[in-house]
Amino acid sequence: MYSMVENRDFQVMLEQTIRAVVERYGTPVYIYVKDIIKHQLTRVKKVFDGVKMLPTFACKANSNPWLIQLFSKEGFGTDIVSVGEYYASELAGVPSERIVWNGNGKTKSEMEFLKDKVGFVNVDSLEEAQRWADFQSEAKFFIRVNPDVNPRTHPHISTGVRETKFGVHVDLIDKVLNTLRKQGKRVLGFHIHIGSQITEVEPFLEAISIGVELSEKYGFECINIGGGWGINYNGKELDLEEYRKKVVPLVSNFELVITELGRYLIGPAGLLVARVEYVKRTPYKTFVVLDAGMNALVRPAMYGAHHGIRVLDPKEPREECIVDVVGPLCETGDVIAKNRLVTIPRYGSLVVIENVGAYGFSMASNYNGHPKPPEVLVDFSSNEIKLIRKRGSVEDLFRNVE
Ligand code: LLP
Repeated sequence: MYSMVENRDFQVMLEQTIRAVVERYGTPVYIYVKDIIKHQLTRVKKVFDGVKMLPTFACKANSNPWLIQLFSKEGFGTDIVSVGEYYASELAGVPSERIVWNGNGKTKSEMEFLKDKVGFVNVDSLEEAQRWADFQSEAKFFIRVNPDVNPRTHPHISTGVRETKFGVHVDLIDKVLNTLRKQGKRVLGFHIHIGSQITEVEPFLEAISIGVELSEKYGFECINIGGGWGINYNGKELDLEEYRKKVVPLVSNFELVITELGRYLIGPAGLLVARVEYVKRTPYKTFVVLDAGMNALVRPAMYGAHHGIRVLDPKEPREECIVDVVGPLCETGDVIAKNRLVTIPRYGSLVVIENVGAYGFSMASNYNGHPKPPEVLVDFSSNEIKLIRKRGSVEDLFRNVE
């Protein structure tokens, strides 16, 4: 965690706010801290100081329109991958010309609906380029290139190696370009996104260099360098100063540089607060059972992801112990933290799960019949606590049943 969050006064304020939010809205609850969002946003802007750019926020990380709006007000566009994310952008007031449409499976009905509602389209394949022949569009087209670079992150979120389903192989670029040009589409450049939660500068350097070389070869003056900046879940994060020194000069002369950051902008700003139902001791292991599991936060179950855990109101006298922090779902994989050293809580203690602003709520499900948690935005500078999504209800779950 960085300085702002480690600051003692900040921690005290945060804890008071968490208690106030829980009193009002119960648990489990997602809380986003506006001050941290602003901090992240400023850090991103600083990295690209002096570059002509369109920064976009990747809605897949978190599509709450109230949060998207915070970015939009600062000049950000959005990266969308569905009609749903388009609606989120529209609700947040993002102008069409700042919306970038990504995806490897764009359907004809999505194309019909979105063709004039987005500023940019990233084409993922020759087959997609051919399909565009049926649709007139004034959007600016980019070709997503698969640069075959290993981002050294979790295989599920690694997208730029040639075995993955994403992007156009370098050998096929001419064909894709000709196909789009024959249709009269405006092709402005290449798009490179090699994965997510990348904590080393080297893979970006390698992949973006390939993008720059290709741009020179094809005479393109615009480039989309994707997202993927890794945050500090467990001690390591992308070194922004190194990125600024090594990667930014590669693109600083372009007419337009588009970025699509999600996790870096919103991840550190989000907390999931859950309540302890049981501390279950067995001869083999101790389990801390929460009222939130993989339904509310799937990252640990899905990727073995690490999220920091803090126990408020521990049991007295204090005891530290290695435990599995688990949810209430009927799955052995329903784990929030495995073999983690924690201060043992008691029934009713609050547990704070950190760094869940990105891919937390957006990947939550109703599995095992659990409604989704509410989302709350807090602002320390104005002392405001704002409910930005109500808690789901059991009725919601069955609304579409005929
Ligand atoms: N652009 C494209 C084309 C993407 O596919 C993604 C993420 C982004 C931008 C934003 O990447 P970011 O800056 O957030 O790393 N569910 C996984 C992450 C999946 C990322 C998918 N694509 C997780 O929880 O770690």
